[in-house]
Amino acid sequence: MSNPLVEICLSPELLHLHELSGRTVVVADILRATSCMVAGLATGIASITPVASLEEGRALMAQGYIGAGERDGKQVEGFHMGNSPFSYMEPYLKGKKVVTTTTNGTQAIQKSRAAAQIVIGAFLNLSAVAAHVKAAGRDVVIVCAGWKGKVNLEDTLFAGALARKLEGFFTWEDDAILAASELYANMQMDLHAHISRSSHYQRLAKLGIKEDIRFCLEIDRFDAVPVLEGNEIVVK
Ligand code: MLT
Repeated sequence: MSNPLVEICLSPELLHLHELSGRTVVVADILRATSCMVAGLATGIASITPVASLEEGRALMAQGYIGAGERDGKQVEGFHMGNSPFSYMEPYLKGKKVVTTTTNGTQAIQKSRAAAQIVIGAFLNLSAVAAHVKAAGRDVVIVCAGWKGKVNLEDTLFAGALARKLEGFFTWEDDAILAASELYANMQMDLHAHISRSSHYQRLAKLGIKEDIRFCLEIDRFDAVPVLEGNEIVVK
């Protein structure tokens, strides 16, 4: 019995080059969408419904969902919260249903729907995700949300970190893995320092957003593994 495969898709624009059906897809948007989802579901949110458009978000808010809306790093007017992990961990959200729409993360989830299972990955739950996909035993595609179709550093580093945790259990299928893995090997000792040079770090810094980033770069703070069930992301 040969090992299952693992591939990295560095941008949703490359998804057409990857087979998703019958596979486990791990979606990563480190700054900040998937980090928010992991933090929120690990601290008591009942479910998170990812949607692509603001209209879909507003429609579910009209049905009583808590609305999280972000575009270009900023909170969208009319939504209850933006895309900060600290907002997602607020005590009033325990047991609540949240609808979220973001610039990249929720789009990447929607574009990965052909997968057998979608898993929400972040540095916050890195080891738990590795254990989950090993136990599932299917081929894996790690999908980086990137920024508006472009490759970004933080998601690529996460993908490299996860691939290294799967080494020996999964066959590395493409060069994106070699590149991401070497990148992580060279930058893991001070992730924050390296990521502080990235475009989205700069973008968020201009908005005065710094603490969110430090939090999103913490490794294994939670052991929750959120998965998409129907239209809702839940922790089983
Ligand atoms: C996104 O989905 O693009 C990001 O999470 C944006 C952000 O939170 O700054």
